[in-house]
Amino acid sequence: MVNVVIDNKALAVAENSTILQAAEQLGISIPTLCYFADLNDIGACRMCVVEVVGEERLAAACNTVVREGMEVITSSDAITEARITALRLLLSQHDLNCAYCNRSETCKLQSLLLEYGVAQWDDWGNVVEVTPNPYAKQLVKGRRAKWPSDIIVQRDTNKCVKCGRCIAACDKLENIGVWSFVGSGAFSNVGVADGLSMRDAGCVGCGQCITHCPTGALTERDDVEALKAAIADPEITTVVQIAPATRTSWGVGLGAEDGELGVETMVAALKQLGVDYVFDTSLAADLTIMEEGTELLSGLGAGVPDEHGITWPMFTSCCPAWVRRAKDCHPDALAHLSSAKSPMMMLGAVIKTWFAEKQQLDPAKIYSVALMPCTAKKHEVKLPMEANPGIPDMDGSLTTRELIRWVHSSGVDVSSLEPLPLDNPLGEYTGAGVIFGTTGGVMEAALRTAYFVATGQLPPPDGFEFAVSEHGGWVEATFELGETAVRCAVAHGLSNAEALLDAIGTGAVEYDFVEIMACPSGCAGGGGQPIDGSEAELGLERGNTLRMLDKTKLPLRYSHENPQVKMLYEEYFGEPCSERAHHLLHTVHVD
Ligand code: SF4
Ligand code: SF4
Ligand code: SF4
Ligand code: FES
Repeated sequence: MVNVVIDNKALAVAENSTILQAAEQLGISIPTLCYFADLNDIGACRMCVVEVVGEERLAAACNTVVREGMEVITSSDAITEARITALRLLLSQHDLNCAYCNRSETCKLQSLLLEYGVAQWDDWGNVVEVTPNPYAKQLVKGRRAKWPSDIIVQRDTNKCVKCGRCIAACDKLENIGVWSFVGSGAFSNVGVADGLSMRDAGCVGCGQCITHCPTGALTERDDVEALKAAIADPEITTVVQIAPATRTSWGVGLGAEDGELGVETMVAALKQLGVDYVFDTSLAADLTIMEEGTELLSGLGAGVPDEHGITWPMFTSCCPAWVRRAKDCHPDALAHLSSAKSPMMMLGAVIKTWFAEKQQLDPAKIYSVALMPCTAKKHEVKLPMEANPGIPDMDGSLTTRELIRWVHSSGVDVSSLEPLPLDNPLGEYTGAGVIFGTTGGVMEAALRTAYFVATGQLPPPDGFEFAVSEHGGWVEATFELGETAVRCAVAHGLSNAEALLDAIGTGAVEYDFVEIMACPSGCAGGGGQPIDGSEAELGLERGNTLRMLDKTKLPLRYSHENPQVKMLYEEYFGEPCSERAHHLLHTVHVD
């Protein structure tokens, strides 16, 4: 332990703690901007500067390690002046166009400007500098400020504070490294490494750089206008499906706490916005389990070793960012992806076939959109999947954040909405479908049903426990499904996934079934989820809310018990992995 004194309070902290961590233990708050816990401590912004007694220069609290006997002062005129200077320097390269910025009110820079009195709100919802900035404005203009409007991740260079959080997120969470610092001196900036396009640099569209950006420099492409146009067209029937993970968080930004506004209020909001039908992707998650679980059981023990003697497991395929990465870099794994489409694409196919027939709708006149915690789904809806030739199964995908902005800008008051049920059929779901939205949920839901199919008995729904692998950042367990042992592993974050793939590829580990999600904690921590301006991953807590819903609120917890899934098989698909199911619910993972 190391003894330190911060603001006259003594404390013993673990060795290698930073001043910031020690201050936190004492309940002393130090402002930060570039720092993100466990991810980024490059010390770029100088907002966290403090005085270390006996040292001339102010120290960055976020990356200065405490020493025995260190005395620290976190508040003084010199510190305040240094922080204000840092903010003014940032403003010299920032457009401060808050009234038109998606991140207004969740922007870390904006909150610091207001807190330190450098800027204030004006009567038009903009934030303006209180006194003229002594540093000349140096905005990026012309060709260098342009960004292609059609790609998923949108960047506004004049809002970037060069904190490096996007670089760290892409590099450390996803092991991809799309972003880097580029240029030098006054022209130093953040851009795509080596001047490549984002796709050529390996971007999988996960959106983690967006959720880790403290300002409005990174946002997702906004696709709400296309849905609004469809709603305005009397010839078109609009359908929105709601993904499991969006229900835990969509109230954030609408005056509610995480998890406070339920799915029924979301239905009411969407109906008020003019959507004709609202269904739940969780039902299609149950359908996915029927297909993927059948695929798993039929393949168990039938794996053939490759030329290196490696028997590859079956991988889940519902995360499009993971599928994209497998296509880019992991041909061995790609060949062993489940052929089941993601729940979103399955429901898309069902809506434009079975549902269209039922309602006597022309599939060409259905506009089908998914509401997702995910930015990568914007790419997935464009994959060539057409149950009706020439008609895409899905027409668009919006993030949770886009819904929040749409609700806001339309003046819908969610607090006065009467909750409405999901439309039926296609509106019933189980707890197994809901936990798809959190890491390990797809695996657990599949095991619940696979156990039942293999043994004829229902397993305890919470009986599937995993332990951290001795090899690294994933969890693993072996379960007996009747006579057969199934070796399972779950990884979230593509960095962890790649470590797992390496271990499989070297023969260090062997599994039968592997779940991979690109985002930390799975879709609950997805790149399209609301950002609350805090410096912590929110996915774990949001995922726990989904598990709580499964455990305490939903009467059915096994996908095969979903009455509407049973009805779909009886009426339409016959049985899991039937010819029609293969045609509509499965795909071939090629570019
Ligand atoms: S979307 Fe994901 S892969 Fe693409 S740059 Fe951002 S973090 Fe990297
Ligand atoms: S784009 Fe955002 S996260 Fe990346 S350096 Fe700029 S402000 Fe930081
Ligand atoms: S983990 Fe979920 S939210 Fe993240 S990219 Fe994959 S599907 Fe999208
Ligand atoms: S330098 Fe510490 S938060 Fe930026």
